Amino acid sequence: MPKNPFRIVAQVPGFADHLKRKPRLVSSVLKQRALKRWRARRGLQTLAGFEYAVTYACQATCEHCSASSLHDPDKERDRLRPSDLRRLARQAYALGAYEVNLTGGEPTLLKNLEDLVASLSPERTFVGVNTNGMLLDQTRVQSLWESGVDLLKLSLDSDDPDEHDSNRGLPGCYEHVLEVLNMVRDMNGIRGHVCSVGTSEAIRSGAAKRLVDLAESKDATIGFTLPAAVGRWGGRYELMLPPEDLEELRQICRHPRAFFQGSVGLQAFQCPAGRDEVYISPYGDVLPCPFVQRSFGSIRDESLGRIYARMGVATELAGNESLCLAGESIRWMKEHVPSSAQRLEGMPTCATEHGDTFCRDEVKPDACGAALGQA
Ligand SMILES: C[S@@+](CC[C@H](N)C(=O)[O-])C[C@H]1O[C@@H](n2cnc3c(N)ncnc32)[C@H](O)[C@@H]1O
Ligand code: SF4
Repeated sequence: MPKNPFRIVAQVPGFADHLKRKPRLVSSVLKQRALKRWRARRGLQTLAGFEYAVTYACQATCEHCSASSLHDPDKERDRLRPSDLRRLARQAYALGAYEVNLTGGEPTLLKNLEDLVASLSPERTFVGVNTNGMLLDQTRVQSLWESGVDLLKLSLDSDDPDEHDSNRGLPGCYEHVLEVLNMVRDMNGIRGHVCSVGTSEAIRSGAAKRLVDLAESKDATIGFTLPAAVGRWGGRYELMLPPEDLEELRQICRHPRAFFQGSVGLQAFQCPAGRDEVYISPYGDVLPCPFVQRSFGSIRDESLGRIYARMGVATELAGNESLCLAGESIRWMKEHVPSSAQRLEGMPTCATEHGDTFCRDEVKPDACGAALGQA
């Protein structure tokens, strides 16, 4: 049974502050609803949001990282420019989008992330940033908020600090994320959200439930992604949830603060890939979502509208009522998403950007500040 969007909105902490700060957001949402009715009559789907991976650079080395197989060193010099991004945003808004999620790699590595947010017309758009949280302090959180960010989506892989830190390769990361959640809880107009992967282990050990309690104690919400057999988990189909664990996760997500993660929070309980949302790589490729790693075209070659229309009639996406195409069906994944395990052979651990170049050296966690010129 889908959650009622209005009930979700009513219990979102500090939602009134978002509306005060962004009154045009209400009209963006209402326009999307009207456009959706109009387009549905013509057999067309309507966007609600898009994810944009601002970079594939990252200082962490997560064992499960889906982004590692999307990083293409040959395309690094040809990433989208600010003008491309502004054009992309205009096209996405014309298709109905009122929500943007900035992801990566690690978006906070970009020193100009705030400029990028500002170029997305944040006054009419709900802006989220997916982050490992390691580079956030009070000053940066404040400047992200000032640029127009509404939601910080902080990843926690476990409620056990050692497990989280060792999976991320970032000592102290767990405690740091908790500090950032405290900071955000005490600010108006920006809120915290925990992102976690709903693995069988987390569900069976009770860690998933404990993370829900933790999020609630920080006045935050929590979203679970299903384990996707892509990236560093490429081909690891055995990690996908068996039906009983999926059912247990559904139960856990009945908690008012807990959701299945799509970037579009209000569309919980139906797979948003290629319908409510699309995912854009730093190179301009348009994917249904970060886990359905197939490009339907590039915004360098054609409009987002044409590519999105193609997704709308793609038989492998259309008509599927599942929760998460990439997380639910091993057969679907095997048929439609090529295993990326081989593509990882010889792939460097992505580290960080230095101007136009891309560092291929492995960055040791305790040296990442130095690599970023912040030591
Ligand atoms: C790719 S990360 C990028 C943003 C940021 N670096 C972070 O870790 O939050 C976005 C989210 O996807 C999750 N994720 C990564 N690989 C995944 C996979 N194979 N299956 C499910 N979720 C995954 C991460 O844990 C994180 O919450
Ligand atoms: S923090 Fe982890 S999941 Fe996020 S981009 Fe970096 S390696 Fe991938």
